Amino acid sequence: MTTSKTLPTPQIVAEYNAMKADIEHHSRLYYQEARNEISDQDFDARLRALAELETAYPSLRTPDSPTQRVGGAPVEGFETVSHRVPMLSIDNTYNAEELREFDARVRRGLDGDVPAYMVELKLDGVAMALRYENRVLTQAITRGDGLQGDDVTQNVRTIRGVPLKLSESAPPSLEVRGEVFMTIAELSRLNEIREAAGEEPYRNPRNTTAGTLKLLDSREVAKRNLSIFLYSMLEDEERPPVTHEETLALLKSYGFPVNEHHTRCADVDAVIDTCMGWTTRRFDLDYEIDGMVIKVDDPQQRARLGFTSKSPRWIISYKFPAEVRQTRLREISVQVGKSGALTPVAELEPVPLAGTIVKRASLYNFEDLAKKDLRVGDLVEVQKAGEIIPQVLRFVPESRPADTVPYPVPTACPVCATPAHKDPDDAILRCVNLSCPAQLKERLAHFATRKAMDIDGMGPALIEQVVSRELVRDPADLFDLTEETLSSLERMGEKSARNLVAALEACKQKRSLKHLLFGLGIRHVGSSTAEALAQHFGAIEALMAASREALEDVEDVGAVVAQSVLDFFDTLANQDLIRRLQERGLNTTEAQPIAVADDSNPIAGKNFVVTGKLSMFTRDEIHEHIKALGGKASGSVSKRTDYLVAGEKAGSKLEKANSLGVTVLTEADFQQLLGGAT
Ligand code: IVH
Repeated sequence: MTTSKTLPTPQIVAEYNAMKADIEHHSRLYYQEARNEISDQDFDARLRALAELETAYPSLRTPDSPTQRVGGAPVEGFETVSHRVPMLSIDNTYNAEELREFDARVRRGLDGDVPAYMVELKLDGVAMALRYENRVLTQAITRGDGLQGDDVTQNVRTIRGVPLKLSESAPPSLEVRGEVFMTIAELSRLNEIREAAGEEPYRNPRNTTAGTLKLLDSREVAKRNLSIFLYSMLEDEERPPVTHEETLALLKSYGFPVNEHHTRCADVDAVIDTCMGWTTRRFDLDYEIDGMVIKVDDPQQRARLGFTSKSPRWIISYKFPAEVRQTRLREISVQVGKSGALTPVAELEPVPLAGTIVKRASLYNFEDLAKKDLRVGDLVEVQKAGEIIPQVLRFVPESRPADTVPYPVPTACPVCATPAHKDPDDAILRCVNLSCPAQLKERLAHFATRKAMDIDGMGPALIEQVVSRELVRDPADLFDLTEETLSSLERMGEKSARNLVAALEACKQKRSLKHLLFGLGIRHVGSSTAEALAQHFGAIEALMAASREALEDVEDVGAVVAQSVLDFFDTLANQDLIRRLQERGLNTTEAQPIAVADDSNPIAGKNFVVTGKLSMFTRDEIHEHIKALGGKASGSVSKRTDYLVAGEKAGSKLEKANSLGVTVLTEADFQQLLGGAT
């Protein structure tokens, strides 16, 4: 029962509603039109007054109140939610010519009709779907894999630009989509706080936005001012489809922030002009954009064009050219990889590039380095490949200092001085000394990684010490390390030493053959190949004894991988290593040898490929059935395929299966096989 004391009088309710409407009005002005009629302090004071009234009369407080943005109790994780309509992606173009090709494709698709386009900014943030029921925000879902995303409603509620309640003109039930991002000013504000606290600064607004949305404590999210712009609305039978320009106007009238920069273009020339104009104008914005998005404006034309499986045919993005910066090449160092590859690395004068400070860039190999003729002291141009990996493009000839010399190709390993060996089949220079300390360090680090033996506490500082003191010469030696030895090392307390010994002990049984095989760093054996080999052979002895043919019988193992495995186990030092690992109690078997097909389970151990349009199962369901019964589903037909399940309109895979004599099943046949599997 509510006591009479907490029940507001009609005057108080009226006053409360007026205060709320006033705050909503100022909030809209600010987030939609970037204007303010009152100061930030005044705004905060009005918000506080509203909160005080709610504290006095809790029945006034509803979830759509502007006070409800401070975040709630932390959650354990996010629920996965299916999107009503998949969130697709957009194909990219990189220049005017590709934009013209897009326009030509669109016009062909429209039988010669000439479309008008809307050109908008491609906001560099995180895509988000917002659902409203009865005009109140009910759910915010990340893009995820496009089909399913995370329910991050608690976090998104704290974003001030997200209306908790829509205007009366909005349809009661609505889903809108847009981009959550962080302004450059907000990133700097957060970084000032972090740096003052001695913490690493955040590197770029997009990653910080993504990280923020994943925080489990929405009160923390509320402290980082995220922003949002909406750009689309799901269609609904009750609303006639409208042009994109009208969509933007409607979104705005419902109370959503909509980016002000959008241009209607009558033809592709205007599109190109607009895009090119923004390649420099973008630097005037207080948020990052990575390109432009071009959309056919007319809804009927969009419907005629339709979709591919990945993206609508009526939309394309124009990505800005990668940012290129100049900096000085201070030094070229040579890195020794875990299999001895000698890689030149550019040591650069630190330079900010696409959101991070770049200090080093791999130069791939010495042939590439010679081709580019990069020299220590050069001014060089750097960019990021795929927006992530720094790359040196070229030196600037006009700025080459007089005294530079070409970088000499090393004749020996820089660490152990063993003469360098050039692979005959590729451009890679190698140190072939298996006990080279540099290689050993890389190998040990790899051995300890998560996907391999997952040894907690084996960081670079420790590896450096055990190698340089010659305590460890190969991975087996790790298991002879004692607490006493370890705690005598620098920066190793007794507790860390104990933990590390325990971690080493634990991994002996917890990790299986697939982890060990991956951890050994056999060339061309990645984690999935390691798993396939482990499952196929079940024990290391069987793998070591396998012939080339037996190896090539394993799914995804071809001549190159087979040769590499043979070479590895042919080497005496490696045979000795395996023996010593076994002596120390490491698990060299795989617990789940492949099930063998019999009458009661004809699916176990068989390789399936599924193709065509299915009607009895979804693709996921059929794959689940196959895997659950110990079969394997792969994407392409080969001589190892046992069955092809072909739905309607099966094409090239069916042809290939027929030509290889692979048994072809209809869905009904498959159902029967399933029936047999009890
Ligand atoms: S429309 C079919 N408009 O870019 C997808 N997307 O690279 C329709 N993006 O996932 C999306 N600004 O997260 C659209 N003005 C804009 C955009 C935009 C940024 C993002 C969006 C999308 C990604 C595709």
